[in-house]
Amino acid sequence: MTNKIIHKERGSVYATNNLPTYLKKVLDDLKPSHIFILTDNHTLEVCLPKFLSEIKFLEQPEVLVIEAGEAHKHIETCVALWEDLSSRGADRKSLLINLGGGVVTDIGGFVAATFKRGIEFIHVPTSLLAMVDASVGGKNGVDLGALKNQIGVIKEPLAVFIDPGYLDTLPAEHITSGYAEMLKHGLIHSEEYWTKIQSFNPQNHEETAQLIWDSVLIKNTIVLKDPLEKNERKTLNYGHTLGHAIESYCLESTQKTTLLHGEAIAIGMILATYISSELEGFPSKKLSEITSIILKHFPKTDFTKEDIEKIVALLVFDKKNSHGKVCFVLLKDIGKHKMCCEVPNEVIYKAFDYYKNF
Ligand code: GLY
Repeated sequence: MTNKIIHKERGSVYATNNLPTYLKKVLDDLKPSHIFILTDNHTLEVCLPKFLSEIKFLEQPEVLVIEAGEAHKHIETCVALWEDLSSRGADRKSLLINLGGGVVTDIGGFVAATFKRGIEFIHVPTSLLAMVDASVGGKNGVDLGALKNQIGVIKEPLAVFIDPGYLDTLPAEHITSGYAEMLKHGLIHSEEYWTKIQSFNPQNHEETAQLIWDSVLIKNTIVLKDPLEKNERKTLNYGHTLGHAIESYCLESTQKTTLLHGEAIAIGMILATYISSELEGFPSKKLSEITSIILKHFPKTDFTKEDIEKIVALLVFDKKNSHGKVCFVLLKDIGKHKMCCEVPNEVIYKAFDYYKNF
């Protein structure tokens, strides 16, 4: 991997063979009083040893550990971390390094952005999803009950260090989950990237590193134009309106298997693309192709009529809504988005029929 760097005042992204050198430079400039590393019980075992063996200059960093998984992305986890930081003497010049997937970077970013009104933090994403999406752009926060990301702040980390080598530690379904966000980048960005992303093969490390970087560039360009999601950043939520509702519903329901974020978003993208074809003239041939490609990677989930009604009822909690209206991002074609579209419920039900019968 050659040096790939996005320089920004905050939130610079580094994907290089030489992460230790760049991290050292960031730390030398910052001169933190304490360094804390946040992991979950999974990354503690499979990622922290690699991190510490490479970043030899870190002297006795203090390690904070949370339970892995979306079910722990709650304010209670933050309270425990704030208390832990406080009891270990963290001050305003302390640094938190978030070593993990999207749950770790979301929680860690939020905890750091709020502790003593804000300490510095760095993300070292270890999942594909966190590399291509969660760690870039400064969205941090927690769920409220099963409702996704309802509480949080937007604050860029000081820097993001991407090492695709961590993907070797990741279960296959988590690779697929992250791939959903790369597919999303293809759909919202261009035919060219949509086609390119079809060749994704995590065994091919060099190509994977390049595709991750392409996705980071797409996301970063959008975030730079609209950091606070007033406008174009909403496109990064393609497939997320129904996807988040499906994810929340499955997380809460005792009848349903919990879905990984990308698994729910994959379903949401099929539904959103169907709705786009119904309401915005998205080409039907491409709809079929996209559906086939997504279903090749993500097995179908069954939804009963009752499930669908409950999922639709959850749409009122979507963060893009305003003035009581549910706001969908739709596509006129690949790479041609339309924001804040209202969608009649009967079209949503038809989309679920399409998904079921495809
Ligand atoms: N994951 C969507 C965003 O960062 O805007």
